[in-house]
Amino acid sequence: MKIFIDTANLEQIKKLQDLGILDGVTTNPTLMYKEGISGLDNIYKHYKNICEIVDGDVSAEIISTNYKEMIKEGEKLSDLHPQIVLKIPIIKEGIKAIRYFSDRGIKTNCTLIFSSSQAILAAKAGASYISPFIGRLDDISFSGISLIKEIKNIYDNFSFETEILAASIRHQIHIIECAKYGANVITAPFSVIMSLLNHPLTDIGLKIFLKDHKKLNK
Ligand code: G3P
Repeated sequence: MKIFIDTANLEQIKKLQDLGILDGVTTNPTLMYKEGISGLDNIYKHYKNICEIVDGDVSAEIISTNYKEMIKEGEKLSDLHPQIVLKIPIIKEGIKAIRYFSDRGIKTNCTLIFSSSQAILAAKAGASYISPFIGRLDDISFSGISLIKEIKNIYDNFSFETEILAASIRHQIHIIECAKYGANVITAPFSVIMSLLNHPLTDIGLKIFLKDHKKLNK
């Protein structure tokens, strides 16, 4: 399973890249806004900076919702860096745009997926990734993990090559369940990825080992 970080924060991306476990980055307009980035030139510069830090795919969101505009915007974004993956919403114009880019070998990440029917259409259009938002489904009392299981089952039935990139991840259990049910990628905030390290018995065990090691040297 690949691990992506869901952020536009360069420091956090650097920290996970240095840890040696990072496979890619996903961003969205909300995450860019949180970093205080504004103006198209600065946004594009920021995407390039992210690509220079991480070895892997970097999802950059297309803002246009009209097919022609989506193509224009996507071509500009894709020219920024070979690691850029175009993040495109699951709307009618988006499906057409995914097909356009897929036919030209440009990677896409179909976003705002909340149902298996949407996941089928995105795969048929040739999306490289789909992003089901599991936390947001949980928020409205639908099981996000059940959606991952269902999509995985459908994609396996037809050997679709589209990768399931589970997004809107809120805690460790989401990540473990995604791994159990075969999501290809998870994207999560920095704090959730770092929390995978934690176990109280590790802390207690390490404390004892270090204390006993000191005794050995007496
Ligand atoms: O990048 C999209 C997704 O991960 C958003 O997550 O926490 O805003 O629901 P969240």
